[in-house]
Amino acid sequence: MAVLRFLARPLSRRLRSGYGWVDERAGTTSMLHKGLYEAVPKRGGWAYALGSATLALILLQLFTGIFLLLDYVPSFSQAYDSLHYLETSDRFGAWVRGMHLWGAYVLILVIGLHMLRTFLSASYKRPRELNWVSGAVLFFLTLGLAITGAMLPMDNAGYWTAVVVTNIPHYLPFIGDGIRSLWRGSDFVGPVTLTRTFGIHIWVLPFLLFALIGGHLMLLRRHGEFGSWVNYQTDTDDPEREITERILRAEPPYPTKRTGRRWAAPRDTVDFFPDQIFKDIVISVVLIAVIFVMSYVAGAPLDERADPATLTYVPTPEWFYLPLDQMLLLYPSGYLILVGGLGLVGIGALMLTLLPFLDRSHARAPLRRPEVIIPGLFLALVVVILAVLGANRLFNL
Ligand code: HEM
Repeated sequence: MAVLRFLARPLSRRLRSGYGWVDERAGTTSMLHKGLYEAVPKRGGWAYALGSATLALILLQLFTGIFLLLDYVPSFSQAYDSLHYLETSDRFGAWVRGMHLWGAYVLILVIGLHMLRTFLSASYKRPRELNWVSGAVLFFLTLGLAITGAMLPMDNAGYWTAVVVTNIPHYLPFIGDGIRSLWRGSDFVGPVTLTRTFGIHIWVLPFLLFALIGGHLMLLRRHGEFGSWVNYQTDTDDPEREITERILRAEPPYPTKRTGRRWAAPRDTVDFFPDQIFKDIVISVVLIAVIFVMSYVAGAPLDERADPATLTYVPTPEWFYLPLDQMLLLYPSGYLILVGGLGLVGIGALMLTLLPFLDRSHARAPLRRPEVIIPGLFLALVVVILAVLGANRLFNL
């Protein structure tokens, strides 16, 4: 009877009472309010959209990756044929494969920009140290996803990428050869290498990535997006110290209006909805449109089938691994020089991750932090120079 009475009502009333029923049980309205009406900084909103764009691009990778799994066969003898089939016989196969590749390229660029913005604005300082550490690990996981993905097609490019990359642990003293054999499944790249790399690419790394994204966003909600000095105003002789104190004193939820001349909360906030979400959506949509177009125009390359016996194929790394590839060239000058070089990369990665604990000053504005900004820019310059040298060597620019 209750069902018949419900069906007899006009549609709008039926929808409203249906939603009311769900809301009473799931608390949807209060959840939406909490999610949408959070105060965020008014200044720098376009730069803050980079974090959401990173999230949108990761979801795009998940979606296109699931589509690829409908055809891809993770077998040494069939991987290439399955992708060839996807490229030539599936209605949108080549396009979606291109989106997965171009999505990865754009994602790495955007995550790098997001990192740069949080670095320049010193958002990694107290109380956001863990935002940075979790972010740095997310960056390395993303690079890991990109390189394991590049091995899967089992064309010449994928096969030789697998040979070079699974050989890198070999340079580690004592444990290196053990790690290489564990990854390869034997001394050489073969069927087991593909199965293990596939497992890492679709299960291990995404699991860690999504778990950590959850943590990163939880911390973001806890501290708010107010790590940057541009969101605070001071009226003392020591603005840096005052800003730090304000950041520590200000407790979310922040008021969307000023509360006085020396207000504890950041200056000028707006609600996440609709102000910030609008910027987030614009940036994400533009980036996804670029990926759509690039994947349609350029697609994703599929080389010849892998030929482990070839002596003429010159493997070229993905652009984001050019600096590391250029470093591997140090090998002919001596094993120890290479181990030293790789050691430096490891130390650099560790220092990057632990940056909040190395830079303990109060200063937040870039010009007041030369001891951090100059080494940071120098490091970026070394990476760019290595990339240019690598590109020059491989592509005769
Ligand atoms: C999967 C990758 C990542 C996702 C999905 C992600 C997502 C986000 C989002 C949505 C925000 C808030 C908006 C913004 O400030 O841009 C944010 C803030 C932040 N992220 Fe990330 N992020 C990622 C990687 C990184 C990396 C690589 C770093 C640095 C190593 C980082 C450090 C931070 C910091 C410190 C904040 C706080 C900013 C502030 O309060 O001013 N994140 N992240």
